[in-house]
Amino acid sequence: MASREHSGGQMEQSLREILHSYNENSPLEEAYTIPASWYVEERVAELERQFVFGGNWQVVARVDQLNKPGQFLTTQLTGEPLVVVRSADGQLRAFYNVCRHHAAAVVTDSEGSASIFRCPYHGWSYGLDGTLKGAPEFEGVCGFDRTQNGLVPVQVAAWEQFAFVNLDPHAAPLASFLGGLVRRVAPLNLAALHFFERRIYSLTCNWKVFVDNYLDGGYHVPHLHKALNSVLEYRQYTIENEDRYCLQSSPMVASNEDAATSATRQGERAWYFWQYPNFMINLYKGYMDTNLVLPDGVDRCKVIFDFYFDDVSEAAAERSCQSIAVGERVNDEDVGICESVQRGLHSRAYGAGRLSVRREAGEHLFHRLLAADLKRGMETSAGL
Ligand code: FES
Ligand SMILES: [Fe+2]
Repeated sequence: MASREHSGGQMEQSLREILHSYNENSPLEEAYTIPASWYVEERVAELERQFVFGGNWQVVARVDQLNKPGQFLTTQLTGEPLVVVRSADGQLRAFYNVCRHHAAAVVTDSEGSASIFRCPYHGWSYGLDGTLKGAPEFEGVCGFDRTQNGLVPVQVAAWEQFAFVNLDPHAAPLASFLGGLVRRVAPLNLAALHFFERRIYSLTCNWKVFVDNYLDGGYHVPHLHKALNSVLEYRQYTIENEDRYCLQSSPMVASNEDAATSATRQGERAWYFWQYPNFMINLYKGYMDTNLVLPDGVDRCKVIFDFYFDDVSEAAAERSCQSIAVGERVNDEDVGICESVQRGLHSRAYGAGRLSVRREAGEHLFHRLLAADLKRGMETSAGL
């Protein structure tokens, strides 16, 4: 049955109809955006939780948070509690932060250093490699094998300053997921940039609205970000799609239109990398910020901004803060428009839009990758 009749007589589209109303085979010149329903439908959000965020490599930490053996942090991904740790042998490891006894969170601090993880409920303890070390008063329990009751591992790997996990135990390695991004980023020497500060923004829009806005090839920059536009050579802006990433880049120009922007956004080129589905790396000379976009229900998202600078000394702090303020202003401009878009996507007046061939190839890549994951996910769920 393709459709369900609502009591009000309104036809509700099936998930299959919703997903198949987008054609990922259309070339850019003929393509539409993904339909508005994908940004407002709880069923699409659920499929994304399972197959986009639960099936692709996801950034969960900075490597600098996990430098020394024993350093750990806890987080959640698609509602799954996780702990990521540098174990005693120097390996990066990740586990579901779920006790094998009665499912309590074993690690309760958000970050720290430990030599053993002890569950606060009944005192079971686990090594940093996940093995069960102690289960008090458990003698005489039939068929209980300690070696089979360690923390359940999750795939984890690092690239540059970023630690990724993948909840799919059969996922291909991180390097093949990142593809050409690794080669493209290598000459830019991210290792010379050091973490300075984190800011987290909450937006009243679907996570994809923020990603779309990022991937419009600078289309909105002259209209929405006048100060930023003054240091970019808008007409020379380039867009490259490869594998699961898009690189948008622009030559920079000297300008005295906005003093704070020209003081903090310098260099030959601006580099804006997006890695499917939700991670961005923005680079100028001596500057990087990363954006991690996380859904928070279908109508909200959270964006984690980490700011890095080449000089993170006290002496450079004032300039760093000025640089963050410039970033924050650009982000405020983006937040306002993203929330406006989300309201528009709910309107009966809007179904889907067209894409600028010159500017919006990145969005086209995003929509095609997403459609492939969701359609595959729907078929997998249907076959279960
Ligand atoms: S739930 Fe962890 S020891 Fe009981
Ligand atoms: Fe923007």
